[in-house]
Amino acid sequence: NLASGAVFFIFGATGDLARRKLFPAIYSLYREGKLGERFAVVGVARRPRTNDQFREDVTNSIGEFCRYKVEADTDWNDFVRHFEYKSLDINNVDGFRELDEQTKVLEHEFNIEGNRLFFLALAPELFGSVSQNLSKGGMLDSKGWHRLVIEKPFGYDLESAKKLNEQINEVFREEEIYRIDHYLGKEMVQNIEVIRFANAFFEPLWNKNHIANVQITLSETVGVEERGGYYDHAGALRDMGQNHILQLLTMIAMEPPSRMVAEDIRDEKVKVLRSLRAYATPEEVEANVVRGQYTTGALKGKDLPGYREEQSVNPESNTETYFAAKVSVDNFRWAGVPFYIRTGKRLPVKTTEVVVEFKRMPTNVYLGQKHNLEPNLLVIRVNPMEGIYVKINAKRPGSESEIQPLAMDFCQSCMVGINSPEAYERLIFDAARGDSTYFTRWDEVSSAWSFVDKIAEAWAANPTNIEHYPAGSWGPEKASELLANDGFHWWPVN
Ligand code: BG6
Repeated sequence: NLASGAVFFIFGATGDLARRKLFPAIYSLYREGKLGERFAVVGVARRPRTNDQFREDVTNSIGEFCRYKVEADTDWNDFVRHFEYKSLDINNVDGFRELDEQTKVLEHEFNIEGNRLFFLALAPELFGSVSQNLSKGGMLDSKGWHRLVIEKPFGYDLESAKKLNEQINEVFREEEIYRIDHYLGKEMVQNIEVIRFANAFFEPLWNKNHIANVQITLSETVGVEERGGYYDHAGALRDMGQNHILQLLTMIAMEPPSRMVAEDIRDEKVKVLRSLRAYATPEEVEANVVRGQYTTGALKGKDLPGYREEQSVNPESNTETYFAAKVSVDNFRWAGVPFYIRTGKRLPVKTTEVVVEFKRMPTNVYLGQKHNLEPNLLVIRVNPMEGIYVKINAKRPGSESEIQPLAMDFCQSCMVGINSPEAYERLIFDAARGDSTYFTRWDEVSSAWSFVDKIAEAWAANPTNIEHYPAGSWGPEKASELLANDGFHWWPVN
């Protein structure tokens, strides 16, 4: 657990992220003994709230969203006494000075040596002023470490991301900044490097000589829910592409790091992002990227409205709720291997899956027998199913030489007693331990924006050029053409 303790400040403590993810994560860490007793949590938000009211909010959130149920024999008060609340106008430095005084009392009470972690579950426009006022209000003068944990979106494009970064850098050094991409906290995403680098039968094949293509799918059944205001401005490319999908792609494509430590891993990841072939012209974007928006449709017998009818969405919106792209990683390992990526809202299933399709075996030894050999696949299932699955070819039992595809399936989430930690549990714990491996470094963020900006610019110049797909379908037909042109198809998700 945390040797010298820490105070966790949750800015935006009355918001959705705190309620759904952060409080439950803190409780899980506590239950697993990872926090010890030398910690305190200060919820910060504008709204007035007493400590008791806040502790009640925390209790309710844990009851509803935590994977651990509150045990009847634990003394709940031992846990919630670590939580306090501070109502704060983040533009008022005096409030930060009061917060500092309140913190010192807590640090004394829980024997914490001045370590402070600031989690900003806030709109990015506020990151700059909060950072400034943390500094002006004396919150960074305590003798331990100070770390800033921030949520996406990190900017709207490269230029705005740079500005945001400059503002934060006035107060925090890069090593003190933990940019969250919650996909990096997922069990199976972290497992990708182990599968790749700890298995003799994958790594030697992991290149253009043996891999035909890679397919990354992040599909969702939900629409935009009550986030229409944010989403209509962002769209799928910025909401899922710039961060989660490109991060997954780097984990699949990166070279083995010289050591399994944060900076070495992130060095390798950023090299992949720099190797992405930028689409040079709007025509190249058009040829390689498909964008779509859902219209009315149905899922599991339930009628669903179109995107333009959703709450807080412009009724004439041309924002994409789906995109698919063919991406090339221009380096020695991957030259000529297409990476197909896709994500969308209101698709038929919720899944995150990576399919690595291997090159076909020569079929001439079986000539004359008309075998339709399927290629080998390695499928990494990230979410909600967790596991890996390998598709191989084998003889059909009892037949003379008939070949059939066979799945070797390891379903981690099916195993009794396995209850994978939530992404936020790992990430909060890592930030508190000072391990930045699964956070995105500035050069990764900026390289990802450089790639995405080219697509966004081409789209902005031609906003009505968007495909429509019925809610509940697999998205625009054109996304299949991306692969068909290369002689491939999307493998059905499981
Ligand atoms: C978020 C996006 O980053 O990821 C959401 O803003 C999306 O639009 C969510 O729904 C998906 O995350 P998960 O963990 O449910 O796959």
